[in-house]
Formats: sequence, C-alpha cells, structure tokens
Amino acid sequence: MTRYSRITGTGSYLPPHRLTNAELATELASKGVETSDEWIVERTGIRARHFAAPGVTSSDLGLEAARHAIEAAGLQAADIDLIIVATSTPDMVFPSVACILQHKLGIAGCAAFDLQAVCSGFVYALTVADAMIKSGAATKALVVGAEVFSRILDFSDRTTCVLFGDGAGAVVLEASETPGILASDLHADGKHVGILCVPGNVSGGQVLGSALLTMDGQAVFKLAVGVLESAARAALAKADMVEADIDWLIPHQANLRIMHSTARKLKLPLDKLIVTVDQHGNTSAASIPLALDAAVREGKIKKGDILMLEGVGGGFTWGAVLLRY
Ligand code: ACO
Repeated sequence: MTRYSRITGTGSYLPPHRLTNAELATELASKGVETSDEWIVERTGIRARHFAAPGVTSSDLGLEAARHAIEAAGLQAADIDLIIVATSTPDMVFPSVACILQHKLGIAGCAAFDLQAVCSGFVYALTVADAMIKSGAATKALVVGAEVFSRILDFSDRTTCVLFGDGAGAVVLEASETPGILASDLHADGKHVGILCVPGNVSGGQVLGSALLTMDGQAVFKLAVGVLESAARAALAKADMVEADIDWLIPHQANLRIMHSTARKLKLPLDKLIVTVDQHGNTSAASIPLALDAAVREGKIKKGDILMLEGVGGGFTWGAVLLRY
C-alpha cells in the first residue's frame, strides 16, 4: 500500500507584546528614525507585529505552537518520532532548536534537526518530513517554523525594521493511507545571497561582520513575484491539477502587494488568499504555519480543502507545497 503524509494538527503562538505601526513609529522617532503608519500600510499591508520579550527564544515560541499542534492532532508529545524546526534565528549556534524543543516537550530519542532556508524554511521542512514519512523513516512528524527576527533587526534602518515580527507555527504530519501532501516544488539560487542576508559569522569568540539583517527590498520584490507564480504552477503540474482546484492560497506573509500579485497571476480571487501579514508582519519561517493555523481555527480551512503553501526568502530560496488538508 502506498504510504502518504497528511497534516493532522496545526498550532501557533505569538508573543504577547504587540506593537502597532504607530507605536513602532513613535519608538523609532525617539531614536531619530522617521516612518509612519501610512507608509508601512501602503507599501506592505502590515499594521502590527509581535516582539518576544528579552530572553525568550525561538524554542520557547516553538514549544507553545508545538503543544497546540500536538493537541489538535489528538496526540501526546511522546508519540512524535521526528522534529524538524525551520528557523534562521536559533537559540544558539548549536545544538539545534529542534533538540532544545524536544527536551522542552519532555521527550527524548526521536530524530530532531533544524532546517535553514530562511522564509522558505517551512515549505522545505514540510517537504523533507513528507519524504521521510513516505520512506518509512518517520510516522508522526512535528514540523515547526519559529523565529525571533526582532533580534537581528537594525532599528536604525527603516527600510527593514518595520517589516518583521516574531512568532511560531507548527503542524503534525502523520503517515496516512490517503494523500495529504500532493506535490512539492523546491528551488534555490545562491547567486542572490547578497540581496537578503545577515552577513556576520562567529569566529574566535566574536561575531565577525554585522549580525543584523540587510535587504535590497526592490530586488527581493521582483524575484519574489516571479518565483511564487512559477513554483505554484510547477506543484500544480506535478499533481495534475489546475489553479481553479486551489481552495486556499497561503503564501509567505511578507508583503500584501506580493501576495495580491501572486493571487492575480494564478487567477485566484482575493477571498481565496489567507492574509495574516497585516497582524504579524513578516515572521520568516513561521509565517506560513501561523497563517495556516489562524485560518484553520477561524473555520475557513476545512478538512478536504486543497491548499497551496508558498515560501520565498533569503538564499535565494523558494518553493511550494500543494496538499489536501
Ligand atoms: N518609512 C518611511 N519611508 C520609508 C521607509 C519607512 N519604513 N522605508 C523606506 N522608505 C522610503 C525610502 O527611503 C524611499 O525614499 P526616497 O524615495 O526618498 O529615497 C521611499 O520610501 C521608497 O523606498 P523603496 O525602497 O523604493 O520602497 P518600495 O516601494 O520598494 O518598498 C519594501 C520597500 C516594502 C521593502 C518593498 O521593496 C518590499 O516589500 N520588498 C520585498 C521585501 C520582502 O518580501 N522581504 C522578505 C523576504 S523574506 C526573507 O527571506 C526574510
């Protein structure tokens, strides 16, 4: 019998400290950095973001999201036999957030590792977990996207610091006799490393270079709108499906204009687009599972719906996962 994988539970978590654009603008103004609610909303669609308190790490946020997902799947933490955490803001250089999270969940023994594909991390991680389940290497996987991007923001750079937020999302992916995940399409092109990166590294007990995010926003924008369309089409073709089969489009939540343009290119009405970027900002690898969980809990997404998840981010990386929920 063919073995497939299927999402059986979703969960998410946002740290309690919420900052509206106006509140952020006031904080930034006190440091001599000028921005406004109007500019941020018009260019990005973002209205608010959440920032983790000092000392709160990706594994802390991931733990809350994971607990919700495991509970929604009707499982206990001890049932999980694989943990993959997609993150670019790990608690430490090593060990992985996945290992720290495993311990915080009170379990031991199962495989646990991090996956680094920046904002495409969740679709990459879901694809890897799907392949491991199909191969028989895992049966009940916990796939988490968790980020504290506030820690790598340059709050003197208004072109980036207004865009990002902290949070975590998670799914439980289980072996199933019926599909679940229908197709994946992953890509990377390392020649674009410089347009979106945190260039610093740790050496000799010090951080060498800048440990803050830098981005050429317009270059990212142009690449993103092209690859989000091509990845969606490639995933549909692999599953022998067409745009009209998609019930819900859940792209990486970075910028409402990119998301609208993707929906238009796929000829999808905007009411099929799941939007949380307005309330969360860009939470990198956490953005897709956060949006998925919000839509599931709002009752928008129902069992059997066809979902197109799409990531794009630093690397440059991009990809799509088409699935039946
Ligand atoms: N407040 C007020 N003014 C601002 C701000 C701000 N926060 N930021 C920039 N400006 C100004 C600029 O200085 C510029 O002023 P000037 O014309 O006097 O020079 C003007 O606004 C226009 O700046 P642009 O950079 O041209 O603005 P643009 O319309 O391109 O929007 C943005 C910038 C929002 C960053 C856009 O390019 C974008 O969304 N790009 C994609 C970003 C993205 O998706 N990143 C996430 C990838 S995911 C990952 O891997 C982390």
